[in-house]
Amino acid sequence: MIAATSCVRIAPSILSADFRRLGEQLAMCEAGGADCVHVDVMDGRFVPNVTFGAKVIEAARQSTSLPLDVHLMVVEPEKYFDDFAAAGATGLTIHAEVAPHLHRQLSRIRELGCRAGVAINPATPIAAVSEVVADLDLLLVMSVNPGFGGQEFIAHSVDKLRRARLMLAESKSKAWLEVDGGINRDTIGDVWQAGADTFVAGHAIFAAADPKGEIEALRARCRVIV
Ligand code: DX5
Ligand code: ZN
Repeated sequence: MIAATSCVRIAPSILSADFRRLGEQLAMCEAGGADCVHVDVMDGRFVPNVTFGAKVIEAARQSTSLPLDVHLMVVEPEKYFDDFAAAGATGLTIHAEVAPHLHRQLSRIRELGCRAGVAINPATPIAAVSEVVADLDLLLVMSVNPGFGGQEFIAHSVDKLRRARLMLAESKSKAWLEVDGGINRDTIGDVWQAGADTFVAGHAIFAAADPKGEIEALRARCRVIV
């Protein structure tokens, strides 16, 4: 039996934020009790969308003291490590699908003083990271196909998270188990029960009438119902 963890980290994704007032929105996340800020970098190659890079990471860094959890949906992610670390990223998460030298890449991220993460797409087996578990500070299980905010949660992700939690537990890994995509009031309870401890939410938080309250509502869903 795999227990849900008592640790719940809510990570608002600024992909859905209003960029005209990013500073204000980050302050609101902080006031709402967010644990970190998720920054989605897309290059139009690994995913069919383009977002932002070091300048926005730097702007976010200057606007909040929360950790910046940077998710690189890009090919050749190592090209950006130095710039993103210098811009203030706390963690860098790269995709296993485009990282043939995961061990070396994760080591480099740690050398730069950042937490090292690997993300896997819905179609990528957990086994893709099984040989580098000891090198992971974070494992990100995508619960949508990356590229856009506001997509529908893929239900199979719950079982995948359960297996990912088992793998981390068997390796005595302290890596965070993060889930990203389609997380909202209806889906967060199941993924928490499955063993996720870090929850990315973009649309659910930033499209809410009260984003601050939404962070609290999401956290409140992570509890055992008796
Ligand atoms: C998807 C991104 C997600 C996205 C989550 O490619 O990695 O972080 O912003 O957005 P929601 O919560 O709207 O599904
Ligand atoms: Zn993301």
